[in-house]
Amino acid sequence: MRTPLVIGNWKMHGTLGEARALATAIRDGLKRPRGVEVVLCPPFTALAAVAESLGTGPIQLGAQTCHHEAAGAHTGEVSPAMLADLGCRWVLLGHSERRREIGEPDGLINQKVKAALEHRLTPVLCVGETAEERRQGLTFTTVEGQLRAGLAGLAAAAIARSVLAYEPVWAIGTGVNATPGQAAEVHGYLRGLLSELASKEVAQQIRILYGGSVKADNADVLVAEPEIDGALVGAASLGAPGFIAIVKKAARVGAAPKE
Ligand code: PGA
Repeated sequence: MRTPLVIGNWKMHGTLGEARALATAIRDGLKRPRGVEVVLCPPFTALAAVAESLGTGPIQLGAQTCHHEAAGAHTGEVSPAMLADLGCRWVLLGHSERRREIGEPDGLINQKVKAALEHRLTPVLCVGETAEERRQGLTFTTVEGQLRAGLAGLAAAAIARSVLAYEPVWAIGTGVNATPGQAAEVHGYLRGLLSELASKEVAQQIRILYGGSVKADNADVLVAEPEIDGALVGAASLGAPGFIAIVKKAARVGAAPKE
């Protein structure tokens, strides 16, 4: 049984004051989350403040990306060692906004995944097709290429310490989420690939999150799918009541095993 996981990706939002207020409201609204793991990924500038607001409670801290080296002459970058030092235990990698806006290629994302694992951070490897790729029937080809490249050279034990997020690009920030059936189909495909890349056992234990316009009113039907192990939430993670509602829905599914 895979414990549902809900990650809030705040993207480039929030002053220090706003970040503290949001983290505190989420912490207070989720004092003892049962049957669900919760991670907040604020911008780098707010990591320390959010770490302080979360304290030693159950909500964990993550970052939105990292460099692939521990230190060095890389102006403007943040290393996985620095994130671990701040109390981060998670890092999003290969998010489509970074692939598109920064031009992060699969090979670099692979180096980042390895660096994250070396520093005991759990990488959340994001994959997903564009609307055009889906229209051309290239959904599986696209996510397969991203998954194989992202996990290239990793031993089964390292793959087992990772999380995947399927985020169709056409669903991110658009208000148009994938249907539970569309998402489940891709998740099943990814899990099949994980069996091949690692082992059947590892594939069964890895969590595959869905992301793309998840909100309180669609989270339950998505997370109820046996193949969907939680959500990576963007816009709807910027308001405490909506995010808490999503977590509670995922927790209910976690409390009543699907399989
Ligand atoms: P969204 O973003 O929930 O705003 O669609 C999800 C993501 O990009 O992780």
